[in-house]
Amino acid sequence: MNPLAFLPASGGYPDRRIEALEASRYGRARRWGHGCRGKITTKNETRPTLAEPQRINVEDLLIGLYVAELDRPWLESPFLFQGFRIESDRDLEQLREACAYVYVDPDRSEAAALSRVQASRPTPRRPEAAVVSAVRRREIEGLFGDDPYPNPARFRQELVRASRVRGEARDVVDHLLGQVRAGGEVDGKRAAGVVQHLVRAITRNTTASLWLTSLKQRDEYTAIHCMNVCVLALAFGRFLGMSQQALEVLGLGALLHDIGKMRTPDSVLNKPGPLTEEEFAIMRRHPVDGYEAMRRAGDVSAEVLEIIRSHHERVSGRGYPDGLAGDDIPLTVRVVAIADVYDAMTSDRVYRDAVPAERAIRILYQGAPQDFGRELVEGFIRCIGIFPVGSLVELDSGALGVVISSAPESRLKPVLLMVRTPEGDDYEKRLVLNLAALDAEAPGRGLSVRRVVQGADYGIDVPAIVRAELETSP
Ligand SMILES: [Fe+2]
Repeated sequence: MNPLAFLPASGGYPDRRIEALEASRYGRARRWGHGCRGKITTKNETRPTLAEPQRINVEDLLIGLYVAELDRPWLESPFLFQGFRIESDRDLEQLREACAYVYVDPDRSEAAALSRVQASRPTPRRPEAAVVSAVRRREIEGLFGDDPYPNPARFRQELVRASRVRGEARDVVDHLLGQVRAGGEVDGKRAAGVVQHLVRAITRNTTASLWLTSLKQRDEYTAIHCMNVCVLALAFGRFLGMSQQALEVLGLGALLHDIGKMRTPDSVLNKPGPLTEEEFAIMRRHPVDGYEAMRRAGDVSAEVLEIIRSHHERVSGRGYPDGLAGDDIPLTVRVVAIADVYDAMTSDRVYRDAVPAERAIRILYQGAPQDFGRELVEGFIRCIGIFPVGSLVELDSGALGVVISSAPESRLKPVLLMVRTPEGDDYEKRLVLNLAALDAEAPGRGLSVRRVVQGADYGIDVPAIVRAELETSP
């Protein structure tokens, strides 16, 4: 399937058709077990039906309740049946591992269990208030929709942890870049150690790590770019199901991929205009320079060296330095190359401003057959989402928020950190809004993303927001 079928032709406006497609694709459309919930309206009649399903947080579930719907597609859950009565503690445990909330069918539940759970539930509030407080109470519950690891840690804690690892990685990258620049010995073992930390941080919480890639600065491009490519490649590698060992190779290769640029003269590297043919030839030496520097260092594997040398190869055979083509370019190399191109496009450079994420995705997709292969690029787009983490979006209410997570089953309904009200004022205390949860609470009345916007157009500095969140985190 063409993933860009879900993307707007221009300007970033998702439409109803997209939502319908997404709903059918992921089975989000409500399909209550016996199909007669709420009010069924035909041309001539409106007839009342059985009791409405009730949304219950998994912590409050009891044996005897009938689960009619999950907060995610059944196919992505460990449950064989689409609707079942909770029979045992094991059922409860599995539900708590897989979901944040479920919908319970009152008519199929045991009366005693139903009245106990109802007695313990708070009085209903206005849907929006309920959603916001539910989100607060559960510390951004929707964030972990794509995380297969049990008991995910809280987002802000993870943000701080990921940031700490990122700081360490930054020190190592700076150190290595400095060593290569000075033509000295390179400490590959230290880099490998940091990558192990990074792999752990990313497998623990991909979202927090990806969010930190929004911390981009024009003036220190190479170091930040190396780390962002590392995080993006690891997130994608994890999405592809790579093993821990393969991820470590991938991460180290990604972290070091541009290390040869430290041998490229500054006048070429940071030239604020187009390169001449001669300058371009100098620029194109960096994969081999990096490969040679790390090969001489002697403690990185052949696979890592291959990533450094070949990250500008393209499946058409038109890349450099060796003109490799098709399957001769290993998967790990292509994963890093995609992350490299995506991060380069979405970063401000001395010679141009960043390209908006959705445009970068479109460009990647258009070039896929010649560059990396369509299938892999489609996978990358699915991995990072239509509204990538860190992008600034405008809701149909006019409010603005930064995407902090988008789970695969609700790509069009991401979790947002709200930064500006519909009236254009800054929020005094930024709130987290889970659009998918809002939609589930108040079907048809939820908010939708209208388009991706550029922070500069609204005087919003996304990296500054990320930093501020880090400062207020525990
Ligand atoms: Fe490069």
